[in-house]
Amino acid sequence: MAAKSRILIIGGTGIIGKFIVEASAKAGHPTYVLVRKSTLSNPDKGKLIENFKNLGVAILHGDLDDHESMVNAIKQVDVVISTVGPPQLAEQVKIIAAIKEAGSVKKLGKGQKSPNKLAQMETTAPPRDKVRIFGDGNAKAIFNTEEDIATYTIRAVDDPRTLNKILYLSLPKNIYSFNELVALWEKKIGKPLEKIYVPEEQILKEIKESQFPLNVFLALNHSVFVKGDHTNFAIEPSVAVEASELYPDVKYTTVEEYLHQLRFIPSEFGSDVDHTHVVEPAKSGFDTKVQIRRTVEAEGIPYTSVSCNYFAGYFLPATALSEPGASTAALRDEIIIFGDGNFKGIAEEIPYYSFLQQFSTWKIHYLRLPMSLLLLFGRRRSANPLRKSIFPRTKS
Ligand SMILES: NC(=O)c1ccc[n+]([C@@H]2O[C@H](COP(=O)([O-])OP(=O)(O)OC[C@H]3O[C@@H](n4cnc5c(N)ncnc54)[C@H](OP(=O)(O)O)[C@@H]3O)[C@@H](O)[C@H]2O)c1
Repeated sequence: MAAKSRILIIGGTGIIGKFIVEASAKAGHPTYVLVRKSTLSNPDKGKLIENFKNLGVAILHGDLDDHESMVNAIKQVDVVISTVGPPQLAEQVKIIAAIKEAGSVKKLGKGQKSPNKLAQMETTAPPRDKVRIFGDGNAKAIFNTEEDIATYTIRAVDDPRTLNKILYLSLPKNIYSFNELVALWEKKIGKPLEKIYVPEEQILKEIKESQFPLNVFLALNHSVFVKGDHTNFAIEPSVAVEASELYPDVKYTTVEEYLHQLRFIPSEFGSDVDHTHVVEPAKSGFDTKVQIRRTVEAEGIPYTSVSCNYFAGYFLPATALSEPGASTAALRDEIIIFGDGNFKGIAEEIPYYSFLQQFSTWKIHYLRLPMSLLLLFGRRRSANPLRKSIFPRTKS
């Protein structure tokens, strides 16, 4: 079974964040929370943090305004969930910048050949639109991480089977042609790339015409991807051994694994920001969420946006069913209905979190019902006959 993703929550001490931290830890994900130092001295939040620690959550000190602390935290994980509050929504660009620096690809292996940029010379990140392919792209190359190179090297030190031999790290799951590597990358990013095939004569010309160090990289890529120098010979047992055969217990990192991508879940947790008709003063907060969405997309950072709609935690039944701004007690006599009351709202649990601790059973039941049904329920339970007012309210 694949290991569970390591999750960092930024804003984990907030209203929504604390539920997500708990859900993550209880689901068995190695869970990290970025906590501001000043928050540790707050007695209420101190208790929350103690609770996190008891669940095995790692507390990392940091702040949106401390870029280095964010990069260091993000480097340790596979998924970043932001649950920062409304005042910090725009500041999520700082998280995006830190994600970019930490690397949009989890592990940047080098080894015999690193696939992290798919051998694109002019870029520091893997391609998202088009890719240059050396030759016909069919020669097989081998990609290994530094960690695995080190592990096998140390294993070989005292092993008589490696004495006076070449130790090849021809790890079977890491042998890919360039075409296969591009296909894998396309699968990971969910879209096809434009492929530009560069013939050998063109590569040799570019090697001659370019400066150091580009000419060296081009020459190495020509050897590996055009000539197939990693794999164009058989391993001769009298003079060589292969590492994964000698040490089958070593769990080496596969290309598939190190092309795994860091994912960002921005702080949304409300209506789908691309589909709201919200007016001011609430509109600007939604606009900021839209801008963050567009920035994440433009940067090519893999994301998931969580639209949990009108969740129930503190809105149901009291706030949603009572006059805005009035008492937060649940209604018993009169109800205000927005518009004609026919649009369906969605009342739901915060993902994975059980409200059992907070609500009695019947409320949990109705938390899962569409809002229109919930209104009917309110009518039935009311001790007095329910008077309906259509909003804006008319005096009766
Ligand atoms: N659908 C709904 O009904 C609904 C309801 C509420 C919220 N939401 C949405 O859920 C998201 C989270 O909102 P929330 O109300 O849960 O937020 P919140 O309670 O205000 O929590 C904000 C979090 O951000 C942290 N934070 C603030 N400034 C920071 C900084 N400079 N560096 C690092 N961390 C910082 C806070 O840490 P400290 O503890 O140190 O202050 C806290 O953990 C928002 O997108 C909001 O719009 C939706």
